[in-house]
Amino acid sequence: MKFDAPSGANLFDKAKVVGKSTPRIDGPLKATGTAPYAYERHDVIANQVYGDVVGAGIAKGRISSMDVTQARAAPGVLAIITAPATKPVGKGIGNNAPLFGGRDVTHYHQAIACVVAETFEQARAAAGLIKTRYDVGKGGRFDFPRLAPSAPLAKGREGKPDKQTLGDFDAAFAAAPVTIDATYQTADESHSMMEPFATIAAWEGDKLTLWTANQMIQWAQDSMGKILGIDPKNVRVDSPYIGGGFGGKLFIRADAVLAALAAKEVGRPVKIALQRPLIANNSTHRPATIQRLRIGAGRDGKITAIAHENWSGNINGEDGENGTYQTPKLYAGANRLVANYTAALDLPEGNAMRAPGEAPGHMALEVAMDELAEQLGIDPIELRVRNEPDRVPGDPTKKFSDRNLVRCLREGAERFGWNRRNAKPAQVRDGHWLVGMGVSAGYRAAPITKSAARVRLDGEGHVVVETDMTDIGTGSYTILAQTAAETMGVPLDRVKVILGDSDLPASSGSGGQWGAASSTAGVYAACVSLRRKIGEKLGFDGDAATFADGRIRAGERTFALKDAGELSAEDQMEIGEFMKEYDVGTYASHFCEVGVHAYTGETRIRRMLAVCDGGRILNPLSARSQVIGGMVMGAGATLMEELVVDKRFGFFINHDLAGYEVPVHADIPHQDVVFLDTLDAVISPMKAKGVGELGICGVAGAIANAVYNATGVRVRHYPITLDKLI
Ligand code: MOS
Repeated sequence: MKFDAPSGANLFDKAKVVGKSTPRIDGPLKATGTAPYAYERHDVIANQVYGDVVGAGIAKGRISSMDVTQARAAPGVLAIITAPATKPVGKGIGNNAPLFGGRDVTHYHQAIACVVAETFEQARAAAGLIKTRYDVGKGGRFDFPRLAPSAPLAKGREGKPDKQTLGDFDAAFAAAPVTIDATYQTADESHSMMEPFATIAAWEGDKLTLWTANQMIQWAQDSMGKILGIDPKNVRVDSPYIGGGFGGKLFIRADAVLAALAAKEVGRPVKIALQRPLIANNSTHRPATIQRLRIGAGRDGKITAIAHENWSGNINGEDGENGTYQTPKLYAGANRLVANYTAALDLPEGNAMRAPGEAPGHMALEVAMDELAEQLGIDPIELRVRNEPDRVPGDPTKKFSDRNLVRCLREGAERFGWNRRNAKPAQVRDGHWLVGMGVSAGYRAAPITKSAARVRLDGEGHVVVETDMTDIGTGSYTILAQTAAETMGVPLDRVKVILGDSDLPASSGSGGQWGAASSTAGVYAACVSLRRKIGEKLGFDGDAATFADGRIRAGERTFALKDAGELSAEDQMEIGEFMKEYDVGTYASHFCEVGVHAYTGETRIRRMLAVCDGGRILNPLSARSQVIGGMVMGAGATLMEELVVDKRFGFFINHDLAGYEVPVHADIPHQDVVFLDTLDAVISPMKAKGVGELGICGVAGAIANAVYNATGVRVRHYPITLDKLI
């Protein structure tokens, strides 16, 4: 099915099931510990053995020798796969560092061996007996801030240097009566999802099955084919329940590769969960950034010049964290510059993490806007409203599909009690606490991508939805069931959703906050096809008939859904070229009130509010959870999260959940999320966009600006820990 033009009214505009707060279908399974996660698939395959991964103890160099004699003789050991004895495997989709094989070590904790044993304890004990010697490489580059300003321009789209200009920034900035020029730093961050990377691999002849934790089933299948040099059709990937991904599970990691190699070697299913202490340095993280913002404005607050430059680094010297993405979209201004530079580093690979680019981008831009507002003596909300554009500022050939940022800001101000804020910093006290409020805007692109599904009638009036879509804790099961229930006119409990298996029709997968919009559009397409097929079978026009309460009304005739017998339809939703004229985005305002302890400098969040414009909200309950999750993650990035680099040896020191601090409930006492009731007719017939990444965009600005309002101290180097305030 093709979606060729912005859609007018359709059946969803009178939706009964879609748009209603619905508890997650998979909730009870997850809450009772019975949802089978990748590492726990005892239900599907017997005779499993355990793999334990060994990570390199240096950041750069070569393995000169590896002695496995003692380990091989240890109890229960079945095999040891070593990197020196394995030809380097290829990289899969999105991998920035090699995953296994050969003597070269390119980053700390790169996988260099895997011990396979009958039990987990035996594998782990034997792994400790491997003796590895290295030739340590010279000249490792670990000190990103020192390297960053001289880094070359990154490659942008179509390989062109990642720099865009409009008008004459330098002249306009020089002529502006009010200017700010500030530099911000954001830290390396870890996804630190609850469920580690985990895989069970089993071979049957030349066919490989991976029960794994992965956001993108098709990419995983293609990647494993490429990595192992086999036909992707011979790889099956199954990932029905996932304990968090945040972008970390977009791409294949060492657990899957080693489980596949080891299973081949021992001729039994091998299971591997990447040990928590390996995750920071073995897998992937969000790279640190340095960002310089220069903004020039008239005394009326209208921006005349804006430049956002971003420096980042990565192991391949490409694909760093680009903080500039939102800047061409958010605020008007005729003279503009964005540029993105990447340094080559010998640190573990950086890669996508929740709102890659935008999350740290807002940490700079939205504080710069606060600094500008203060210089101008204009309220920060008013400043943003005065710079609201009518076309995309960085690309005026494009129009916005639907944009309600001003409503988000105004409604948030009203609900949060913004008028009680004292614009002068360090004026409000509550006992020993200095109290302040901050605001930020948020923008995140709302991409949509092709997504297929199959919908079946079982002849008893039940509907079965099948697609390889994933649910990474986001609520996919539930919104897909709601979509099918709505379109087929059945109650929610008559719908069964089966996800995550590469044998099913190929979905969008979960990433880039495109999952909800794309996968529901695919299920909608399959349902519409099924309605037409039912019509053909029973002799009516499926598009004109009404499907409701398990019955079909076609003109004067009525049927029960089960009259159609067993029937299935497969379809996908493809979005037409027309969309290129539009910028389809999601918008938010974030508000925060903090208390900063006057003597210790400790920052405590007191309350947070997000007002979000994400088109139709398919399930307000799970959408709220998504935004709350984003806000918590944003609070972590602002106040505590930082992978600390050991600049001598080139690794992240705090490589577990004891050392890498993330917020807990007590850190965020009160959060509220409000959705504007909007529909975006451009994105799909569902008129729904995503919110999972929007939730983190702008959080840091609101908190950092509140800290400034509380204390009068402007910290531009995240995380804002107490040492930076006193
Ligand atoms: Mo996202 S960082 O594309 O899962």
